[in-house]
Amino acid sequence: LPRFRIAPSLLSADFARLGEETRTVIDAGADWIHFDVMDNHYVPNLTFGPMVCQALRKHAVTRDGARVPIDVHLMVQPVDALAQAFAAAGADLISFHPDASTHVDRSLQVIKAAGCQAGLVFNPAASLDVLEWTLGEGSDKLDLILLMSVNPGFGGQSFIPSSLRKLEKIRRLIDDHVRQGGREIRLEVDGGIKVDNIRAAAEAGADTFVAGSAIFGQPDYRAVIDAMRQALA
Ligand code: DX5
Ligand code: ZN
Repeated sequence: LPRFRIAPSLLSADFARLGEETRTVIDAGADWIHFDVMDNHYVPNLTFGPMVCQALRKHAVTRDGARVPIDVHLMVQPVDALAQAFAAAGADLISFHPDASTHVDRSLQVIKAAGCQAGLVFNPAASLDVLEWTLGEGSDKLDLILLMSVNPGFGGQSFIPSSLRKLEKIRRLIDDHVRQGGREIRLEVDGGIKVDNIRAAAEAGADTFVAGSAIFGQPDYRAVIDAMRQALA
């Protein structure tokens, strides 16, 4: 498996052809499919739910039929019932915003109990305090930390520069966690990632990169993904 993962966000795909778009972007080299769930409550926009995820599950495969992980980013409130519904709909990873959950530890447990990998998402101005109690000795509920480098709700926004400092801070927390015997945790960055800033995000500690408009806004998805990998090399 490559050290770096590229996770195209279907938010910027052609919604009238989501199955095809999923297959095309996988053929173009996508490692994960990023699935942005917005509820017009936690964020001011509305996208798709578990039924669409379930319909796409069979398309999220390579040409050889290997399963490509569906990375569900929940921007919804409340969290738990929808997390369970997405697990049943074939999600592989499910991340939520801690400020959208009444009981963060319970939401993590719900996701793990449903057989998925669990992630916490932090907005650009969100405190990382909750990590003090979800990382460290004896804690094994967290598989992924997703840092928003734009405010959630829309594709096509510009990368917020202070995200680099925040990535560095989260990277230090993850490295400490691993030094204390904890499992490796992926650090994913989401928002405004392009060919020209992906390397800076990697140098700040990210290992997984969501990109929506940068990939789906160009006619040749492979050319963009190759250029991103080139920038990371
Ligand atoms: C924003 C979403 C992102 C979005 C990224 O709320 O979480 O995943 O699709 O889009 P770009 O890459 O265009 O910023
Ligand atoms: Zn997202």
